[in-house]
Amino acid sequence: MNAFQYRDGRMHVEDLPLDTLAERFGTPCYVYSKRAILEAWREFHDAAAGHPVLICYALKANSNLAVIDLLAREGAGFDIVSAGELRRVLAAGGKPSRTVFSGVGKSADEIREALIAGVRCFNVESQAELERINQLAGELGRRAPVSLRVNPDVDAGTHPYISTGLRENKFGIAHEDAIGAYQRAASLPHLEVVGIDCHIGSQITSLAPFIAALDKVLELVDALHARGIVLRHIDLGGGLGIRYADEEPPSRASLLEAVFKRLAAHPRGQRYELMFEFGRSIVGNAGVLLTRVEYLKRNGERHFAIVDAGMNDLMRPALYEAHHEVRAVVPHEGPTQAFDIVGPVCESGDWLARDRRLALKQGDLLALMSAGAYGMAMSSNYNTRGRAAEVMVDGDQAHLIRERESLESLFALEHRLPAG
Ligand code: LLP
Repeated sequence: MNAFQYRDGRMHVEDLPLDTLAERFGTPCYVYSKRAILEAWREFHDAAAGHPVLICYALKANSNLAVIDLLAREGAGFDIVSAGELRRVLAAGGKPSRTVFSGVGKSADEIREALIAGVRCFNVESQAELERINQLAGELGRRAPVSLRVNPDVDAGTHPYISTGLRENKFGIAHEDAIGAYQRAASLPHLEVVGIDCHIGSQITSLAPFIAALDKVLELVDALHARGIVLRHIDLGGGLGIRYADEEPPSRASLLEAVFKRLAAHPRGQRYELMFEFGRSIVGNAGVLLTRVEYLKRNGERHFAIVDAGMNDLMRPALYEAHHEVRAVVPHEGPTQAFDIVGPVCESGDWLARDRRLALKQGDLLALMSAGAYGMAMSSNYNTRGRAAEVMVDGDQAHLIRERESLESLFALEHRLPAG
């Protein structure tokens, strides 16, 4: 059930009205529903029941410790892309043995830290990275579990900035180079080849690209098998889309079922453990960005609602022209206008939504919907604006899971020049 619903004329998250949360915690503020996160997670978890599957949560979508903690308690694995994310997993009670380390530019320090922590596997993106991991593992007297991220050259049919499976992207090892890279990996003494990995993009709204990628990966698995390189797992990455406007992405369960069906048709398909790295589809619809209208203004033909959240809080519209639905928290009567919802940041690109027909007055509260993924995680301090507070609601309880940044903290690491 949708955790964000109108009751008595006010939008609620679970059992709490959003306007009272705005009073209590201020705006802008990210508000998440614990129930919505759990429901999304459990849909994956239940669909995986009876199959050897590790579902990892891709921290980059929303790395708040409370979100990690919640998912760790449910037995989730994690997908990380930096030592910072590894530290978050550890700080929130996640297990390194259920954590995979992805990313195209892992530094030597990051690799060392992950080896010492004992991550489940490194998703390796180049030959040079293989050599580096081998050397560092040797120095530490360990064997590093590795899986190669192959680039299946499949079009995910999504925004070019978030499409990663095409040949022209920087990600992964080209399909035709994969066998050579595996042979090299198998020959290195401090590596243990355990799996294969791909991730073709994000906000994918049909099953076909996932299955096309799986087919390409299975081709490689077979070719490797024929050469005596036997893998234990297949990681299909993340990328399942959510509904922002009128998209109709496949359900979480149907994606898993389609993958199981394909594997069942493969002669050795049942032998492999499956892994996924889902971010957006676990948290995206579980959060909103709450913001207040500071001013209404008209420039020529356009009507603007200037709100207290900006592109530094929610960057997706400015960066990808992404659509987030805008809803009045307490809708009221009055003439409607087509408003551009814009922030206070000094950039023309600082907009959150365009051409939305709403009845608005100064002081109104708005909810930018489906902001649980890549919202707070991509926020910045541009214009010396403190990051928003984050709140997680559980039934009729609201927990402050990240305090609003104080303005002093924004320059606390800086130093003036010496006197004189
Ligand atoms: N695994 C890898 C290797 C990834 O690169 C990503 C996302 C994921 C998993 C998780 O994908 P998801 O399930 O969340 O789609 N900032 C963009 C999205 C960038 C996604 C980057 N990689 C946005 O706001 O739409």
